Amino acid sequence: MITTKYRADSALLPFFTYYSEAVQQAYQQIITKTGKGHEFSGWLDLPETISVQLSEIEHAAKKLKQQSETVIVIGIGGSYLGARAVIEALQNPFASMANDPANFNPDILYAGHTLSEDYLYNLLQIIDNKEYSLIVISKSGTTTEPAIAFRVLREHCERKYGKTNARERIVAITDGNRGALKMMAQEEGYCTFVIPDDVGGRYSVLTPAGLLPIAVAGFDMAHLIAGAQAMRQHVLSTGNILQNCALQYALCRYLLYGQHKKIELMAAYEPALYYFIEWYKQLFGESEGKENRGIFPAGAIFSTDLHSLGQYIQEGERHLFETVISVEKVHHHVSIPYDAQNLDGLNYLQKRSLNEINRIAEEGTRMAHLSGGVPNLTVTIPEINENSLGELIFFFEFSCAISGSLLKINPFDQPGVEAYKKNMFRLLGKEG
Ligand code: PA5
Repeated sequence: MITTKYRADSALLPFFTYYSEAVQQAYQQIITKTGKGHEFSGWLDLPETISVQLSEIEHAAKKLKQQSETVIVIGIGGSYLGARAVIEALQNPFASMANDPANFNPDILYAGHTLSEDYLYNLLQIIDNKEYSLIVISKSGTTTEPAIAFRVLREHCERKYGKTNARERIVAITDGNRGALKMMAQEEGYCTFVIPDDVGGRYSVLTPAGLLPIAVAGFDMAHLIAGAQAMRQHVLSTGNILQNCALQYALCRYLLYGQHKKIELMAAYEPALYYFIEWYKQLFGESEGKENRGIFPAGAIFSTDLHSLGQYIQEGERHLFETVISVEKVHHHVSIPYDAQNLDGLNYLQKRSLNEINRIAEEGTRMAHLSGGVPNLTVTIPEINENSLGELIFFFEFSCAISGSLLKINPFDQPGVEAYKKNMFRLLGKEG
């Protein structure tokens, strides 16, 4: 039984029956693994198949936790954003400053997602005085950004702990057979996990690529998987658009795209979901943006970004629609205190909780954007926890695959990403 709820723009509902056959066809292609890129359909079964690996992942996580104050996750794109999306959604953003003796989980830091020299320098400074371990994730094992970061951090780690002890602090997650990282891991005897051949980077969050960092950060993989399983059961149970929330969402996007709404603004009113939206951006951007087609995935955190993007959304070019990840319940309570002087005029809010005000801001914004010509879709979860994030992950993955199929492109490859690499390698004078 899923807890995620989906609300379509009511103006789109009459089209559902008309398009039900096209959606049914896309659905069949995805679930029978016969559509374009079907050789990368492994993600579809991960919520079921990954369970057998959980104890091995838990075991590796325990070892990393025991020996580290900090764990650095090295990866880029799909190979790191899934883990970061879940970890940042669940963790206390101030955890590293809170000095909470009850929290034995290492801080998770990230590298290999940028070529910024200052970023890596500052990270190296920090870990000089920390006990740390490295999780390096690259399916191809050859991506430049994580490869560079790993070389620098491995050198630091070997200098600090010695080559033999450093080996105990490095976990490599990569292809089962190929790639420089696979070879190196074998040679050095690192603990390794595999991203299956039939799972692409951006669909890999429910493999060790996502799960190991999530477990190290102290979050519950089993509940995350249970959420994904529930959503999987729901979306696989019927190809009837009226009963399948992922099909509805995929069709709404397709219909809006047909109405020249070329940008989807994924918004949330909880800053904890910032990296979840980053994950969504790479999932849909890399999957759909092909053959001069595809919705541009953008993201915003409201109400913060209403004070920067709000004006454009309300009155700028009408090529946007909005999807809100709405969170019903928060975990903590802060209410507005009474102030006898009331110089700020806020006494009308006294005793009301911040979440109530946030939810009212959400409703007011939805109404304003709708009346400004920005169609609005809503995906509601009861609260941010492992279970609902698992549901959301599978919901967006499945919708993305259907969406690609409706657009008649291969949602599982990314040929365009090579273009910048070719130029960069030529300019850097790389041989071959
Ligand atoms: O979804 C994808 O395939 C990409 O975002 C990759 O995950 C990203 O380019 C990193 O690739 P790799 O894991 O091979 O280093």
